[in-house]
Amino acid sequence: MDVKTALSTRKSVRAYLKRPVERAVIEGLLDAARHAPSGANTQPWRVWVLSGERKARLGARLEQAFREGRRGAPDYAYYPREWFEPYQSRRRACGLQLYEALRIARDDRQRRADQWAANYRAFDAPVMLLFFVDRRLGAGSYLDYGMFLQSLMLAAVEQGLATCAQAALAEYPELVRDELGLDDELRLLCGMALGYEDRDAPINAYRTPREPVSEFTTFIDHTRRR
Ligand SMILES: Cc1cc2nc3c(=O)[nH]c(=O)nc-3n(C[C@H](O)[C@H](O)[C@H](O)COP(=O)(O)O)c2cc1C
Repeated sequence: MDVKTALSTRKSVRAYLKRPVERAVIEGLLDAARHAPSGANTQPWRVWVLSGERKARLGARLEQAFREGRRGAPDYAYYPREWFEPYQSRRRACGLQLYEALRIARDDRQRRADQWAANYRAFDAPVMLLFFVDRRLGAGSYLDYGMFLQSLMLAAVEQGLATCAQAALAEYPELVRDELGLDDELRLLCGMALGYEDRDAPINAYRTPREPVSEFTTFIDHTRRR
């Protein structure tokens, strides 16, 4: 598969088949992603791969924390405290698309909460990945990490696998560290669901829009003499 096709076919998948993913396949994805560039070749990625009972146990603990209304203390602020344009509108449209696909009404708080709770089970995918970074590293390592994550997701597409990057899995980092027996030198950045897409699930049926290049790009002195 060429890069462009992988880029345009990758999408966030939120319902999965029960079919497991072989360890060798996951290792293959990580082996591809490790080629991602990083400042001074620091390679800041530290990855935990959970499946089976251990995944179920962590998922259940996270879901319980959410259902009990516990407030997590994320290791970093992924989103701004106050939203503003144009990001606020894009965020709203994103949520709307999801709820429309599931035919969940705006005021149906129970179904909205249930849908959000599925995040903590990594949407019942067979594999949950968790991504950590050494707390002492700087903001640049977050850039590096983004490249690693996208590389991993593209490698997954090539293998016929699906993913969903998940900030939701980083909402209760203390709980995750406790479950994995980690101390707090590692910052939890996000998680990811990995598995085979359930192509019949309505939640997987929509695609999100993107702004055109002209909307976010400024060319200065890009002149060509003919
Ligand atoms: C770092 C990161 C964190 C995300 N966290 C979540 C999440 O917690 N839950 C979720 O359903 N989607 C999450 N998403 C998926 C985005 O909503 C999705 O990428 C965006 O709407 C664009 O859609 P697409 O991935 O299908 O192209 C996340 C994406 C990224 C890159």
